[in-house]
Amino acid sequence: MGPRILTVDPWNPEPDIIGKASELLLSGRLVAFPTETVYGLGANGLDPLAAARIFAAKGRPADNPLILHFYRLSGVEEVAFVPPQAKRLMELFWPGPLTLVLPSKGVVPAEVTAGLDSVAVRMPSHPVALALIERTGLPVAAPSANSSGRPSPTDAQAVASDLGRGVDLILDGGKTSVGVESTVLDVTGERVVLLRPGGCSVEEIETRAGVEVLLTGGGIHRSPGTRYRHYAPRIPLILDIDVEAYFQKDAIGRLRKGRVAWIGMRAPDIFPGEIGNDPELCLLFNSLENYARGLFHALRTFEDAGAELIVAQWPPSPAGLGRALRDRLARASMKE
Ligand code: TXA
Ligand code: MG
Repeated sequence: MGPRILTVDPWNPEPDIIGKASELLLSGRLVAFPTETVYGLGANGLDPLAAARIFAAKGRPADNPLILHFYRLSGVEEVAFVPPQAKRLMELFWPGPLTLVLPSKGVVPAEVTAGLDSVAVRMPSHPVALALIERTGLPVAAPSANSSGRPSPTDAQAVASDLGRGVDLILDGGKTSVGVESTVLDVTGERVVLLRPGGCSVEEIETRAGVEVLLTGGGIHRSPGTRYRHYAPRIPLILDIDVEAYFQKDAIGRLRKGRVAWIGMRAPDIFPGEIGNDPELCLLFNSLENYARGLFHALRTFEDAGAELIVAQWPPSPAGLGRALRDRLARASMKE
């Protein structure tokens, strides 16, 4: 038997469904719910045992901290110090796909923060997420609702297939709109540091908030979650810019015709006649936004369609969502 799934109206979530989900969270159980980025696996963010359930369900390394989700600013102030710069970013970009790492007040259990003296906070814009968080009155801890290392889920089916009965309830609010996770910024110091590129672009943050975002400076080391291979389908994924190098090592002859999948914004120019004929194995997007929205779902679809190799177009520029896409593709193509 699979997990319990309840369909919920993504714009006007039914109060009785939100009520059921909220009761589960309040009793320490796990509820997966849609956010505008990806589906989250929610638990009471103040309950160490509930947080431990998240790590068990995902198979997540214990040293990778969770993001707490809020529906109002005053909730954040109960668990973290909010420097003026962070306040301004919240006012400009919340609710929305921006997570801020703030100095912790020590209220949040170490199971959630992985023992760090900082805590990651975000206010999602999805009506279902907001209604659920408001109803619980809690900070809701929620990582992406995938098994650790797998592509993040952008629909309820992906959550169910990864987590099965490890999750007590899935709220099915349809496909998520952004498709990649939130941007994570460290605002604990004087400089604003990018820990993970995501749905909110660095350029927009810099322009609208008038701050400079440091791109280097150790994102890999400072954000535990960015250390691992991630977002990886079960079949190898290579970047279009690496195709030649790849096939010097791995003979193309071993691949059956037509089993190479392609994803990107331009038509494939490799393996003419072998790739791009099967619509199931060739996905083209007309904008970066749509590429980001469709990427994770496509990786899962290609697996189901029996692809043996995925070739993904490397976005030509890091501007806008290109930075998040590059990051996800680079991690999905990492060997181990
Ligand atoms: O869009 C999103 O952010 C989704 C939805 C569900 O909200 N959530 C999500 O969570 O992507 P997760 O757990 O998959 O990624 C959280 C990232 C990880 O890279 C983690 O290491 C980092 O945030 N993080 C969390 N707390 C941190 C902290 N105190 N310091 C540095 N990095 C932190
Ligand atoms: Mg994740």
